[in-house]
Amino acid sequence: MSDFRSDTVTRPTAAMKQAMFDAPLGDDVFGDDPTVNRLQDMAAEMLGFEAALFAPSGTQTNLIALMTHCQRGDEAIVGQQWHTYRWEAGGMAVLGSIQPQPLAHQPDGTIALDDIESTIKPDDQHFARTRLIVMENTTGGKVLPIAYMQAVRELARRHGLRTHIDGARLFNAAVALATESGGDALAQARKICASYDSLSLCLSKGLGAPVGSLLLGSASFVQQAKRHRKMLGGAMRQAGMLAAAGIHALQHHVERLAQDHAHAALLADTLTKAVASRPRLAGQIVVHPAQTNMVFTDVAGEVADEFLAHLAARNVQVTSGPPRKHAGKTIRWVTHLDVGLADIEHVRGVIAAF
Ligand SMILES: Cc1ncc(COP(=O)(O)O)c(C=O)c1O
Repeated sequence: MSDFRSDTVTRPTAAMKQAMFDAPLGDDVFGDDPTVNRLQDMAAEMLGFEAALFAPSGTQTNLIALMTHCQRGDEAIVGQQWHTYRWEAGGMAVLGSIQPQPLAHQPDGTIALDDIESTIKPDDQHFARTRLIVMENTTGGKVLPIAYMQAVRELARRHGLRTHIDGARLFNAAVALATESGGDALAQARKICASYDSLSLCLSKGLGAPVGSLLLGSASFVQQAKRHRKMLGGAMRQAGMLAAAGIHALQHHVERLAQDHAHAALLADTLTKAVASRPRLAGQIVVHPAQTNMVFTDVAGEVADEFLAHLAARNVQVTSGPPRKHAGKTIRWVTHLDVGLADIEHVRGVIAAF
């Protein structure tokens, strides 16, 4: 099976499992699981925050962040495609009583600064109080540039707003920037989140841990966030077994994301060439270049279902959804720890046979 559905499908490596097995444990609700404490301290130190909090999922660290920043009736500015808005079952509204203000994206994944600024509501009894700006980096596999992240932060500061980054794939962004500039991924990661009030970072996507996400912020923010984690059912007991996988991931799986990015670039190239070699597919399948570990292909309505069935019958798993700007389907291919060159070669043959 060549599983390109998501980087969430990875299974822990033997070394990661051993680290989980060997982890010293305690009760994290009492604050005495040494492995959870080590993971939290390590991540905070790595990314330049005062403190961190371990929770079961990225959906939960995002929701904890939103509920910690915003009171009932506050508003959070988000992107139409941000996970926090579109893919978290409306949690901020349902559980946080927070009003989302979604904004359209530009083709590079950013939201125009003017759009953000003109959306901030004046202090008037008719309006929800705009409290928070949420960013997502990477978003749909795209890297939001550091200068843009800084400009958003400055805008927020001018208006007295708080800032949160959904950095589920922060290290994909950092590694891509480091590859481009020849710099150090950790330094790039720090720059992306410099002066943001909070960050959620997933351990169970490209980093390859089976479970877990971290919420980072100031010590007082994390102290308040703990109450929301408890309320949402995310306070775990001997969670060190899971935290150990996170420590292993941060120690061994950050730099290797460059390999996933190289595989995505190769996959995009392979798909482009395979499609070009099939006259029948001219204009029917459009392949978009990859910036990090995701490749998107737009497939015309005439062939979309047949193409998806063809992939499935040949053990190629992908995700597909309704397209944004064309009739047909958009297919997402994600590279990760558990797909490699053999899978890309397999895809080449599968497309050639379509
Ligand atoms: C950008 C982004 N943020 C947050 C999440 C949520 O993570 P989880 O699946 O751990 O809840 C995801 C999951 O795919 C994601 O892609």
